[in-house]
Amino acid sequence: MTDWWRNAVIYQVYPRSFADGNGDGAGDLPGVTERLPYLADLGVDAIWLSPFYRSPMVDGGYDVADYRDVDPVFGTLDDFDAMAKKARDLGIRVIVDLVPNHCSDQHPWFTRALSAENGSPERDRFWFRPGRGPGGTEPPNDWRSIFGGPAWTRVEDGSWYLHLFAPEQPDLNWTNPEIHAEFLDILKFWMERGVDGFRVDVAHGMVKAEGLPDADYGDGEMNMFSHLKVPYFDQDGVHDIYRTWRPLLDSYGAMAVAEAWVSSAERLARYVGPDQLNQAFSFDFMLADFDAAQYRKIIESTLAEADVVGAPATWVLSNHDKPRHVTRYGDDGLRKARAAILLMLALPGSAYLYNGEELGLDDVTDLADEFKVDPAYRRTGESRDGCRVALPWSLPLTPPQPARWEKLTADAQDADPASTLNLYRRALRARRTHMADAPEIEWLQAPAGVLAFRRGETTVVVNTGSRPVPLGVYGGRVVLSSDDRPDPAQLPPGTAAWLTRL
Ligand code: NOJ
Repeated sequence: MTDWWRNAVIYQVYPRSFADGNGDGAGDLPGVTERLPYLADLGVDAIWLSPFYRSPMVDGGYDVADYRDVDPVFGTLDDFDAMAKKARDLGIRVIVDLVPNHCSDQHPWFTRALSAENGSPERDRFWFRPGRGPGGTEPPNDWRSIFGGPAWTRVEDGSWYLHLFAPEQPDLNWTNPEIHAEFLDILKFWMERGVDGFRVDVAHGMVKAEGLPDADYGDGEMNMFSHLKVPYFDQDGVHDIYRTWRPLLDSYGAMAVAEAWVSSAERLARYVGPDQLNQAFSFDFMLADFDAAQYRKIIESTLAEADVVGAPATWVLSNHDKPRHVTRYGDDGLRKARAAILLMLALPGSAYLYNGEELGLDDVTDLADEFKVDPAYRRTGESRDGCRVALPWSLPLTPPQPARWEKLTADAQDADPASTLNLYRRALRARRTHMADAPEIEWLQAPAGVLAFRRGETTVVVNTGSRPVPLGVYGGRVVLSSDDRPDPAQLPPGTAAWLTRL
């Protein structure tokens, strides 16, 4: 058993957007298999696949109807096995998504629950409750769905069921031992197929406060990224679940990473440790502006908390739920994104990349309605579809890929040394050479707007300010730069560089 994940670079594949293997216009598992050599060449250690299970795809597959099968849109279990084998042959590990907080309303458990009575074992797998008010016409409590509207939907017999996300994603009742047994078995099923780990969806969600008390939101806004303390997230009991998972994961040498939106770095650290999961995404880093002071604060608190529990920090700049960082950073977004990746890859811990960021993609913010399939869009007007547009491998582009991506296809970037793709390739190589065994961060003096630190022989300088920064004071030669034509003497605004004394 190795702790390979501690320093790993893990590439998130959003299966529908990544690569189309069968030519039907949508990404699939054979497409992933075909592009594995590209990922090996990029230099990633592992891939994490967002859900590819049988699903009505109401929430991009995060509404699972069968946890042990591949949706026909993405292929078959044989396609999965072929993909996993090729990945192994290329030295790439495979992490799959696990969705334990809720399933699809098309999961046989839920269809059976609908036709059963209150108090039946079928209904006890979910949260069915009578409504409030005269005739029970009001939801059982004030909980709001992450995707807008109440977190409760009424069924024919007048009872209500809980869904923290879309109504098509009923929450599972983790006070029921059957749910525990089922998920241990699902973990086993995929580990027997050779997977190396799991990304745990809504890892802070499964346990609800006793009695389902009102959340009393006040003025607080509830959304997926909220830090609000609510009676259905980050309850202490959730850690008991991980206590039962961890020995099983360890027995297969598999790891797990938590997607947990909680109120502080200290609360987040509770999800990792010898009897918990192995990693938890530091989303604060993802939410930060391109700003040295913000980065420094977040890096310091994340590393300090990781240290307390003896776990590696887990960095991420983009994923399928947030606008891509090129877009988030605003003016000169691509320039800043290229600098930010050199920062992230220099930090101790592991780094997750989101498919397409290596091409410098931005969000498609003016998507036509027909391409908006995010369930949040119907209910809140906000959509995550802009960061889920299919990757441009080569010309011609197809809708809704925007014309500006013509220069950004993987083909176009492959041979151009200045391209973002080649910057990522160089950066991942340099990370192996300079950061693999590097000591912790030693912060260096730097002017306002500039972040500078040393890790052993390597110095990292990131200029988020508006003036060039002289590099002479840091010593060493530039081995990696986010700038197309690096100037060895100074670092322009919106760029980053690694220098080495060797
Ligand atoms: C988090 C996932 O990343 C997101 O895409 C999904 O909508 C929710 N969890 C619900 O499963």
